[in-house]
Amino acid sequence: MNSLFVFNIGALVTNDPGRGGLLGVVQEGAVAIIDGVIDWVGPEADTPADYGDLLRLDAGGAAVLPGFVDPHTHLVFAGDRSDEFARRLRGESYEEILAAGGGILSTVEATRSASEDELYEAATERVWRMLANGTTTVEVKSGYGLDVATEEKMLRVVARLEESLPIDVVPTFLGAHVLPAEYREDRNAYVELVCGEMLDACGPLARFCDVFSDEAAFTVDETRRILEAAKERGLDARVHADQLGRVGAAHLAADLSAASADHLDHATDEDLLTMRAAGTVAVLLPAVSFSMRLPYPDGRRVWDSGVTVALATDCNPGTAYVESMPFVVALAALNMGLTPDEAVWAATRGSARSLKLDDRGHLVRDAVADLVILDAPTHLHIPYRPDADLVAAVVKSGVVL
Ligand code: NIG
Ligand code: FE
Repeated sequence: MNSLFVFNIGALVTNDPGRGGLLGVVQEGAVAIIDGVIDWVGPEADTPADYGDLLRLDAGGAAVLPGFVDPHTHLVFAGDRSDEFARRLRGESYEEILAAGGGILSTVEATRSASEDELYEAATERVWRMLANGTTTVEVKSGYGLDVATEEKMLRVVARLEESLPIDVVPTFLGAHVLPAEYREDRNAYVELVCGEMLDACGPLARFCDVFSDEAAFTVDETRRILEAAKERGLDARVHADQLGRVGAAHLAADLSAASADHLDHATDEDLLTMRAAGTVAVLLPAVSFSMRLPYPDGRRVWDSGVTVALATDCNPGTAYVESMPFVVALAALNMGLTPDEAVWAATRGSARSLKLDDRGHLVRDAVADLVILDAPTHLHIPYRPDADLVAAVVKSGVVL
């Protein structure tokens, strides 16, 4: 039963530009859903009479928003890195730990050793916590295999998540996350492996290809080779860009018309303008700055450049073991200079755009009926009460979870 009439909504965030303001808020609103898709949205008093037969859900005067879209996660992994987290709190740097064979490489070791079922079970628990926090679409990357068999294993797990859980999962191939230890003396051989055999095996399981293009990872030239090879196999590009230093990765992302460039801590104004012209979305990851105790990228500057802004958790065992999009919205509003309205828009409509999904992130006729009902009268409560569990109910494709 995925038809539903949601009524008695206090403030309804539609993200419909036709309704005024950035968020197109409708007061005292209602939403009619037929077969998992939105049929009608508006003030409850204007409801067309013909929804009398639908199952009814009383929002109790609370705020309702589009389901959150989390467009950057590494949620399939084995083990955890709490020991490394404690070492960082004592002063060691992420780069030092990675250069010494820890960091991402220790998760690679654990993920190679884990069975597909073990990875699936751990990831399932993370996805359920995300759903409980209102995420209804999530992107998931490979990248802790760094060999053909394990990258494929990770993407099979991603496919099982999509099949078995009430969430839409977008798979991304990240074979070029870091250089695996066994290729330290011959990086070119690894890039060739990614561009050839690995993409042949993993490409059919993925929608996007991502590369960590940065000082401690892959060069801009290597990134270009990999993303061009992926494009030949029909994968669109995303880039971990200029997180640790300004290497020109955001610029490259724009040059390749990538769907997104993510992180962007060191991107310049000129990089942002190039991204805007190319339609490349800026995915900001405030939970990384929070968890790594690093300065936050200036979200205000990014928004004001005119580029489309998205927000994501970056859920991963190293730099941000964070699963909650409301928490990310709060961090963006409190620490990155976005207004609460901008942060909510970025976590819904902006994030959907970064995944090239035009059918969600807004509540308009024919959109996927993914809704979050808050335990609060307006969306402002998300940053205002950053530790509160404000998600009262989640509707996924018209089904109340
Ligand atoms: O997005 N920057 C590279 N990749 C992840 C971190 C992955 C890890 O440390 O395990 C990120 O921050
Ligand atoms: Fe990441």
